[in-house]
Formats: sequence, C-alpha cells, structure tokens
Amino acid sequence: MKIFIDTANLDMIREINSWGVLDGVTTNPSLIAKEGTTTPARVREIAAIVDGPISAEAMSMDAESMIREGRELAAIHPSINVKLPMCVDALKATKVLSSEGIDVNMTLIFSPNQALLAAKAGARYVSPFVGRLDDIGSYGCDMLAQTVDVVRDYGFETEVIAASIRGPVHVMEAAAAGCHIATIPYDVLKQMVSHPKTDEGIKKFIADYEKSKR
Ligand code: E4P
Repeated sequence: MKIFIDTANLDMIREINSWGVLDGVTTNPSLIAKEGTTTPARVREIAAIVDGPISAEAMSMDAESMIREGRELAAIHPSINVKLPMCVDALKATKVLSSEGIDVNMTLIFSPNQALLAAKAGARYVSPFVGRLDDIGSYGCDMLAQTVDVVRDYGFETEVIAASIRGPVHVMEAAAAGCHIATIPYDVLKQMVSHPKTDEGIKKFIADYEKSKR
C-alpha cells in the first residue's frame, strides 16, 4: 500500500519524506487555510520536495469552471492531480480532464456507488472518507472495503485512497482491505512507528550492552 501524507505543512512533509516512506501528498482547502497560503503556491512548494502525486483541490462548483481550474492546477507541475468533490458537475469535469490526461482525485466519497460513478467517469483516484463516516455512527471501514471490491472487481485503473484516517487502526484496516493508497495525517504516521514493546526492548538491549562492557 502506498503512503501519502494528508497535510499542507512543509515541515511535516519534509520530515516524513526523510523517512523514505512517502509516496505522495493530499491537500484540501481546510489544510491549506491552516497554513495561511493558497493551493497553487503550496502545491508548487510541495512538488519541489516530494517525488510523487500531489492532490490540489479545485474550488469551482460547475463543470466548466472545474475544467478550467483543473487545467490551471495541473499546469503547475506534472505531479499534480486535481481533487474534485463528488457531484454531477465533478463527474462531467472528470470525463473531460481525464480525456486530456489530467488525473482527477474524486474526494468526499462516502459510498461504493459514488466511487463506481467516479471510476466510470475516468477518475484516477477515489477518496473514501473513513473517519467522517465513523463520526456519524457508521462503520467507515466497511464502506472502504466495499469500495475496494467494486473498483477491483471491474478492473478499473482507478486507485482507492483511504482518506479521513484518524488512527493506526484505520491504516491497518485500509491495508487489509487492499487499498492502493492511504493518506495519513502526520500524527498518525508517528503513532505507526511506536510500540511500547519496541521501546522496552531497546531499553533492555542498551542496559545489557552497558552491563557487558563492565
Ligand atoms: C483527503 O484527501 C482529505 O484531505 C482528508 O483525508 C480529510 O480528512 P478529515 O476528515 O480528517 O478532515
């Protein structure tokens, strides 16, 4: 499973990139606003750091403007794909953009049916939101697994990005479901590294090594 980081923060991106595990980056308007910058400016900076796909969200709400904005975003750097929020206009825009070779990441996916439509329209990525479904009392991981099945069973080239990840368990579930990609917040990536038994083991090895030197 490929690992993307879900952030627009450059320090976090640099740090995780230095681990040698980073395959790409997703941003969204909320993450960009947190950094006090704009999407075009920030994705340009990210592209100078990361060698992999970078999602930049278009803010237009009708197909024609989505296509125009999508072309502008994609022109910033070859690594950039255009994030569009699931709706009829986004499907129409996806059809056009994908026929021009511009990758679309259909975002705000909450059902396998939405993913099926996005894949048929030519989306390169679909992003099912796990955590936000959990938030309303549904089981996001079930929806994620069904989405992977639909995309795989019908041979779409679309890749499923597990999104709205809230903790390491969501990442494990995404991997178990066969997701192509998980986009993971910085704090969750840090949590994935640690295990109390690892820390305990390191301490013991160091203590035994120190003893053996005496
Ligand atoms: C995905 O691309 C989104 O940016 C993201 O995963 C949303 O996550 P949230 O529900 O934690 O905001």
